Amino acid sequence: MSGRAAVLLWLVIAASPVLADDVRQHGEYLFRAAGCATCHTDEKNHGVPLAGGRALKTSFGTFYTPNITPDPDTGIGRWSEADFIRALREGISPAGEHYYPAFPYTSYTRLTDTDQHAIWVYLSSRKPVQQANKPHELPWYLRSRASLGIWKKMFLSTGAFQSQPDRSAAWNRGAYLVNAVAHCCECHTPRNFLGGFKESRQFAGNSEGVEGTAVSNITPDKKTGIGKWSETDLVEYLETGATPDGDYAGDIMAEVIDNSLAQLTKEDRRAIAAYVMSLPPLENTIHKRTNKKPKPKKEEYE
Ligand code: HEC
Ligand code: HEC
Repeated sequence: MSGRAAVLLWLVIAASPVLADDVRQHGEYLFRAAGCATCHTDEKNHGVPLAGGRALKTSFGTFYTPNITPDPDTGIGRWSEADFIRALREGISPAGEHYYPAFPYTSYTRLTDTDQHAIWVYLSSRKPVQQANKPHELPWYLRSRASLGIWKKMFLSTGAFQSQPDRSAAWNRGAYLVNAVAHCCECHTPRNFLGGFKESRQFAGNSEGVEGTAVSNITPDKKTGIGKWSETDLVEYLETGATPDGDYAGDIMAEVIDNSLAQLTKEDRRAIAAYVMSLPPLENTIHKRTNKKPKPKKEEYE
């Protein structure tokens, strides 16, 4: 081996543990931003982190999140990285079954290959925890996963986020964080009776949010959205939950802020705000922060 090759080889070997650490840290950052631990930990009942069991009440039934620790028997310890990527990208299990969209792969499909890999590296570094999964509580007509194939044909378009070259880097970063990572639309976009997003009403608020709460309109509509907020107000809200009118984020959004958004870098929060403020304003008569008020009447919604 020539001297130069030896030096190069040495450099590669010396640098690789640092690189592996970097990838894991990057994965941890994304994992937090994406709220994986929030859903996969039964915090209310003092559950072990990532061992699942959290109940997600939806208008379709109650889902219990599975154990995603690397335990070989009750978690995903026998999965390959390709299995994991397929779950995020296509919503398909290693056994070839469809996942319910209560697992927001509809957003995670937009993650880049690099980011999905980093999340896998981080997740694989967690401690295995033995805890069996709880079956979902669903009406009989939703118990078969086969029909989810039809649902996916109608409502899922797979593939990583494509940045728009005519927009700034910050805007594209914001779009990526909102649509691929932090999955804001999963709560803020209304769904049709089949649980698909109403594309024309993106981010305009949802009357039937998780846990039965109504979710605010976050488009910059002056009357019914956050059009009166400045971009700085929004950055502040994403960090502390404080609204410009002196109120605070309600339970579900407070959890998103505490566990995910407050832990992002300032630049990332600014990027999210820049993107959200650039959305087309959509009017919706949904009440603001409705979980403190009686549930509005159905016909008041889009
Ligand atoms: C909104 C709640 C929610 C969030 C956020 C969430 N998941 Fe899940 N996840 C679920 C549910 C519910 C299921 C079960 C879906 C099913 O049974 O079809 C699931 C299933 C999975 C599975 C399949 C496990 C198995 O045993 O088949 C993996 C892997 C997974 N999630 C990883 C992740 C990762 C990684 C993230 C973050 C990038 C994440 N989840 C974020 C709710 C969530
Ligand atoms: C798990 C569901 C969920 C997710 C994910 C989520 N939100 Fe929210 N969000 C809510 C709920 C519920 C409210 C109403 C909060 C309240 O009652 O105070 C809310 C409120 C807000 C508000 C306040 C609006 C107002 O008029 O007071 C903003 C702004 C907001 N969300 C932005 C975001 C952004 C940006 C993201 C993604 C980075 C996001 N949300 C992700 C559920 C969610």
